[in-house]
Amino acid sequence: MAAPLSSNSATPGRSVAVSSLRTRAPSVFASAQAATPAREPATPFLKWAGGKSRLVAQLRALLPPAYHRRRHIETFVGGGALFFAWRPERALLMDLNGDLIHTYSVLRDHPTELGVALASLQAAHSEAHFYGIRDTYNARTSRCVIERAAHFIYLNKTCFNGLHRVNQSGAFNVPFGRYDHPKIFDETTLVRASRALADAELVHASFERVLRLAKPGDFVYFDPPYEPISTTANFTAYAAESFGRAEQMRLREVFAALDARGCKVMLSNNDTPFTRELYARWQVDIVVAPRAISCDASKRSAVTEVVARNYR
Ligand SMILES: C[S@@+](CC[C@H](N)C(=O)[O-])C[C@H]1O[C@@H](n2cnc3c(N)ncnc32)[C@H](O)[C@@H]1O
Repeated sequence: MAAPLSSNSATPGRSVAVSSLRTRAPSVFASAQAATPAREPATPFLKWAGGKSRLVAQLRALLPPAYHRRRHIETFVGGGALFFAWRPERALLMDLNGDLIHTYSVLRDHPTELGVALASLQAAHSEAHFYGIRDTYNARTSRCVIERAAHFIYLNKTCFNGLHRVNQSGAFNVPFGRYDHPKIFDETTLVRASRALADAELVHASFERVLRLAKPGDFVYFDPPYEPISTTANFTAYAAESFGRAEQMRLREVFAALDARGCKVMLSNNDTPFTRELYARWQVDIVVAPRAISCDASKRSAVTEVVARNYR
């Protein structure tokens, strides 16, 4: 029997039962695990709207002094582009999406079993299979923590545009994506991500929880759902709860409280008059970001983002 997920996992209340997926690991997966050096940079293993992969270098230049001696805290970790690229020694990763944090914890604690589950999903992939897995995922009937994480990754890799969208009742409702050969089981990426997560603390919570967790000297990065730049460009539907102006203003209060506490704080958002005004008290820089995900290819153009910091 596998060890239950640790207390810093995503699903403290969910009972843990590991079912029949604990068969032999693919041998390549096991050898890739052994061969990966300790602090090799990793990359996100999920497609995630608003992912920061294309801004890694620009944001790295804006990190605080002695970044590598600080704890790295991200309250809106999403696909984790910055965390995986920078490989901080100590990290606390949070998100309101419980299944996302659950998937991180399974990849951290049970990478081999997860690899086995993904390899079998890869082998069975078809449109009918996609909808069957989506139904199982939404029905929440599986009591296997590894299977649920595998389904989350499978749906992410095979759904339309890699979007994560849920309806009011929390059901994942993104349709099938027509990819010729979606890479569902990508062992190198998974192994690297698993090693990067090995020492990370994972918390399923809304961003305000950081006020209970952050200590002076910590580096806190906020990458909230964007303040929409137009009424049609709404990227805020990651979780059943929406992220509107009230949340943006609450986030600013959290930013201010961490500033007063002695944390180094950095925040990204769309460049709008509202976001500039919210952070006018602090250092605000502009970066140009090519968009990674949009339903409409014509809207995947570059946009400017603000980066607010309480240090220079
Ligand atoms: C812009 S994405 C973060 C992208 C991430 N930086 C990356 O590189 O992939 C915003 C994230 O905020 C999460 N989220 C939405 N509302 C939240 C809340 N109230 N507290 C914490 N996380 C929230 C979403 O689930 C989503 O993963």
